[in-house]
Amino acid sequence: MKHSASESKPLSSGLAIYRRLLRYGFPYWRSFCVAVVAMIAYAAITPFFAKLIQPLIDGSFIDNDPTVLRQVSLMLIGLSVLRGIAGFLSEYCSGSVGRRVIADLRRDIFDQLLNLPCSFYDNASGGQLLSKLLYNTEQVSASLQQGIITCIREGFTVIGLMALMVYQNPVLSLVFLVLGPVLGLSVRFVSKRFRRLSMRIQESMGKVSHVTQEVIDAQRIVKVFNGKAYEAAKFATENDRNQKRQMKLIATDALGGGVIHLISVAGVAGILYVVSLDSVRQTITPGSLMAFIAAMAMMLSPIRRLSQVVSVMQRGIAAGDSIFAMLDLPRERDRGRISLKRARGSIEYRHVSLVYDDRHGAAVDDVSLVIPAGKTVALVGQSGSGKTSLVRLLPRLYEATAGEILIDGHDIRELTLESLRRQIAYVGQEVTLFNDTVASNIAYGCLDRVGLDAVREAARAANALDFIETLPQGFDTLVGQQGIVLSGGQRQRIAIARALLKNAPILILDEATSALDAESERYVQQALEVLMQNRTTLVIAHRLSTIQNADQICVMRGGRIIECGTHAQLMAARGGYADLYAMQFGYSSVPEAVAVHAVRR
Ligand SMILES: Nc1ncnc2c1ncn2[C@@H]1O[C@H](COP(=O)(O)OP(=O)(O)OP(=O)(O)O)[C@@H](O)[C@H]1O
Ligand SMILES: [Mg+2]
Repeated sequence: MKHSASESKPLSSGLAIYRRLLRYGFPYWRSFCVAVVAMIAYAAITPFFAKLIQPLIDGSFIDNDPTVLRQVSLMLIGLSVLRGIAGFLSEYCSGSVGRRVIADLRRDIFDQLLNLPCSFYDNASGGQLLSKLLYNTEQVSASLQQGIITCIREGFTVIGLMALMVYQNPVLSLVFLVLGPVLGLSVRFVSKRFRRLSMRIQESMGKVSHVTQEVIDAQRIVKVFNGKAYEAAKFATENDRNQKRQMKLIATDALGGGVIHLISVAGVAGILYVVSLDSVRQTITPGSLMAFIAAMAMMLSPIRRLSQVVSVMQRGIAAGDSIFAMLDLPRERDRGRISLKRARGSIEYRHVSLVYDDRHGAAVDDVSLVIPAGKTVALVGQSGSGKTSLVRLLPRLYEATAGEILIDGHDIRELTLESLRRQIAYVGQEVTLFNDTVASNIAYGCLDRVGLDAVREAARAANALDFIETLPQGFDTLVGQQGIVLSGGQRQRIAIARALLKNAPILILDEATSALDAESERYVQQALEVLMQNRTTLVIAHRLSTIQNADQICVMRGGRIIECGTHAQLMAARGGYADLYAMQFGYSSVPEAVAVHAVRR
C-alpha cells in the first residue's frame, strides 16, 4: 500500500514535502515577514527578563539600593508590553497565513477532484477523499503555522538565552556541549515515531469518515437489511483504532517532552554542582549566578516546545505527503485544440475497445459503428454486454483503450473536453440529482442563463410538469440528497428534462425511461421522438418496444456488436435480436415471433 511505502521515505523527502508546503505560504510573504520579525522581537526581549534579575539581586541585597527595585519593576512592565505586542503580531499574522494556506490547499484538492478521471473514482473512497480535504489540510496548516512560530520564536529565544549565559559565564556554558547531542538524539527518535503514527492516524481518520459516509448514503439499505449492528461494529473498530493510535501519539509526545525536560533539568543540576565547588563560587556574584540559572530555567519551556514542534511538523509532512500524492495524480487528458461550436452530429466508432481493468476482459471489444448525423441508433443486449461502456466513451468519461471515435470527422481526442461535452446530452442509467431545487436540477449550472420558462418547457416535454406542480414549492422544491424525496420515475423525468434543456446535437439515453409506467413512458417517448428528429441519438433499452423505430438497432454481446439493422431486417435475419424479441414478448420460438411480426406489418 501507499502508506507503508511513505513510512520508509528518507528524511530528505520529508524536507522536500515541507518545502512544497512552504510554497503554499509564499504568496502571503508579507504577513509571513511581519510574523517572523515579531517572533524575533519576542525572542530578543525574553533574555532581558533574566538579565533584570542581576541588578535586582546585586542592587537591592548587596548594594542596598531600593530605587533599583522600582526601576526594575517599571522595566518589567515595559518589557511585558513589548513582548505582548510582538506575541500578538506573530500569532495573528502567522495564523492568517495558516488559514489562507488551508483555503488554498482545499481549493487545489477540490479542483483536482473535479478534474480526475472517472477511472480514479472507480477505486477511490469518497470518505477518504473528504478526510483529506477536511482533516489533512488542517494538519498541514497547523504544522506550518505552529511549526514556524515555534521554530523561529522559541529557537531565537533559546539562542538569546544562551548568548546571555555565555556573556554571564562562559565556563558554565560549556554544559551545552554535553546536553546538545543528547537532546538532539532524543528529538530524532521522537520525530521518526511521530511521522509513522501520524500516517496511520490519517489513514484511520479516512476510514472513519468512509464508514460514516456509506451509512449516510445507504441508510435505507442499512435499515431494511438490519445492518445497524454490522455498521456499528465496523464503525467501532475504526473509531477504536483511531483513538488508540491517537493515544500512542499523545504518549510519545508526553514522554518525549518529559525526557527532554529531564535532560534539561540535569543540566541545571550539573551547573549547580559546578558552582558548589569553592573555586568557581568565588568568581561570580550572586546576582550573576541567579541570572544564569534564571536563563537556564527559562530555556526549559522553549526547549520543550521545540521538541514538540517536531511532532507537529511530522504530522504536517505526513498529511502533506498524502495530499500531494493525490494532487500529483494525472488528470483527465485534455490536449485537444479544436473547439467545435455546434457539431452536426455524425459519429463513427473505429475498432474501439475498452479494457477497464487488465484482470478482466474487454468491456468493449473492437466495435466499429457509423451513425450519420440526425439518425437514431439503438443498442440492445444482455446485461453486462457493454452497452453503457460503449456510450460512455463518447463524452470521454473513459478513454478508449484502442481505436478511435470521430464526431463530424474529428477524433474526439482532438476536441477540447469542454467543446466535446457541450455537444452531448446524457441521461445515465443511474439518475443523479443534486441536493438543490427542481429548477436548478433541470437547468444544472445554467439557471441564470436559460430562465425559468425554458425549464418549464423542458419539464413539460419530459412529462414532468404535472408532478412538479403538485410539489409543495413547485420548481423551488428541494429534492434532497440524490433526489430522495422524489419517486424513481419522477427522478428519471427530471433527468430527461435536464437533457432536453441542454439542447445538444447528440443525445445519449441509457435506459432513460426504464423506471416509468407504461403510460408515462409512451408520453415521454413521444416527446423524445420529436426531439430525436434533428439529433443524433444513441438509445439503450431493455424494453425492445421503445426502440423499434430506431434507424438502426445494434445487438451487443460480450462487448461486441454481433448484428445491426432495422427492426424488420433483424427479425428477418432470425439472429440475436429475434431471440431477444421472442423472449421478451413471450413467443415460444423465434419463428413464431417472426411470423407474428410479419402479420402485424
Ligand atoms: N467502472 C467499471 N470498472 C470496471 N469494470 C466495469 C466498470 N463498468 C462496467 N464494468 C464491466 O464492464 C462490463 C460491461 O458493463 P456495462 O455497464 O457496459 O454493461 P451494460 O451492457 O450497460 O449492462 P446493463 O444492461 O446491465 O446496464 C461488465 O462486465 C461490467 O462488470
Ligand atoms: Mg448499462
